[in-house]
Amino acid sequence: MAVYLVTGGSGFIGSHVVDELLRRGETVRVLDNLSTGRRQNLSKVIDRIEFFELDIRNLEKIRPVFAGVDYVIHLAALPSVPRSVKDPLTSNAVNIDGTLHVLLASRDARVKRLVFAASSSAYGDNPILPRVETHIPHPLSPYALGKLTGEYYCRLFTDLYGLECVALRYFNIFGPRQNPDSPYSGVLSLFIAAYIRGQTPTIFGDGEQSRDFTYVPNCVQATLLASQAAGAAGKVMNVGVGRSHTLNQTVEMLNDIFGRKVVPSYGPPREGDVRESLADISLARQTLGYEPKVHYAEGLRKTVEWYRRELAPPA
Ligand code: UD1
Repeated sequence: MAVYLVTGGSGFIGSHVVDELLRRGETVRVLDNLSTGRRQNLSKVIDRIEFFELDIRNLEKIRPVFAGVDYVIHLAALPSVPRSVKDPLTSNAVNIDGTLHVLLASRDARVKRLVFAASSSAYGDNPILPRVETHIPHPLSPYALGKLTGEYYCRLFTDLYGLECVALRYFNIFGPRQNPDSPYSGVLSLFIAAYIRGQTPTIFGDGEQSRDFTYVPNCVQATLLASQAAGAAGKVMNVGVGRSHTLNQTVEMLNDIFGRKVVPSYGPPREGDVRESLADISLARQTLGYEPKVHYAEGLRKTVEWYRRELAPPA
């Protein structure tokens, strides 16, 4: 049994990682400042983990949490492209300085390996699809720049200090527990909540932008493989499904699932938005043995089922 520290463990992705680690019998610590994460995401497991309500912007405060930790899954971040465009300073403090703090604390505690949640946004508007890790990155937002900087820091920490780091470029992860109640939420949580609440979803732009929407258990699988796989240290890898869908297609799929004929409203495109995104997952397949098990349509159906239960008015 190993000791895992999950930063951002009360968040959407983090809480799924925590559940899977506990299912495997590992010892779990969570470090989270609850800024976008929610206690409720861990309510079923809170007695089985150690929880530290701390902020990665404060290096000295977080250091003790790393003592005795074998593996760090570093997911704590301030997500959202538009939030980072509006407030680049906070985005930088959390996503860049915060990541450097987590790396320093991990190095000094002699952690065996750290897995970093990087982002597909690093590719920006590079026109070549699918995205391959050897493409030149071109971040279009402070969020994308922060995640890319985190990757570079990871590689430096592997090369300079021997801290094994693996950076995974997550491609638009979705699923249960993604918070639908912030303007900065992921598009699918906003759309599904709009359907359930009888509101009209808004598409920013013409709806022909595409994403490699990735159901969260696929991402958990890749993340935990990355914490163990031989030959992964120092690498950056895409984690997606390898299929992309547009927002207009997504609305059609939701119309099918809900048996409705919702017509979305269209607004101006978002600043810093990427047009197309599609992962080549060959490297993660080869290096990690990663294989996405749930494809978009099925993940979307399961996610809708979850939000239907979650957002149902109390009986
Ligand atoms: C980006 C990253 C993703 C990262 C996420 C973190 C890319 C390709 N992906 O996601 O890896 O995890 O940031 O926040 O950069 N939209 C609407 N209506 C809405 C909300 C969004 O049309 O109500 C549109 C957006 O303009 C965008 C798409 O939906 O074109 C997806 O948006 P969102 O879910 O916020 O994620 P990305 O910005 O793609």
